[in-house]
Amino acid sequence: MKDLFDAAFAAMQKTHSPYSQFPVGAAIRTSDGRIYSGCNIEVISYPEGWCAETTALGHFVMGGGGTITDIAVVAEKKAKCTPCGGCRQRLAEFAGPDARLHLCDNNGIVETMTMKDIFPYGFEADVLGKGAA
Ligand code: THU
Repeated sequence: MKDLFDAAFAAMQKTHSPYSQFPVGAAIRTSDGRIYSGCNIEVISYPEGWCAETTALGHFVMGGGGTITDIAVVAEKKAKCTPCGGCRQRLAEFAGPDARLHLCDNNGIVETMTMKDIFPYGFEADVLGKGAA
């Protein structure tokens, strides 16, 4: 899993977070071994910025999507930074309940859980009678 952490850590170096000064990186691994990463990107109109996990998901979708097996998140100033509520919902759109979420410090992975651990009782497609297209 070091390659996934390294991808998240490298992405964190690209952060655009001049307002919070809180760099974050995320990386996603697919079942066929691809890795997509992202950093947080902030905007002077603060609510318009977005999280590292969301950037990584954009790269994952544009790279062809697939099955997500692992997600790593690293924040320079906070060990074991967990995805925000909105990112949990976005990750759950593409990552099944058994996908692993790796929380990191600046040296590597320090705790691993699953999506269903961190996002139980999420709002799911069956409520609308729909599955993902
Ligand atoms: N942030 C992330 O990118 N991911 C997280 O999991 C938590 C928060 C970002 C959003 C914002 O740019 C900064 O951290 C401070 O909230």
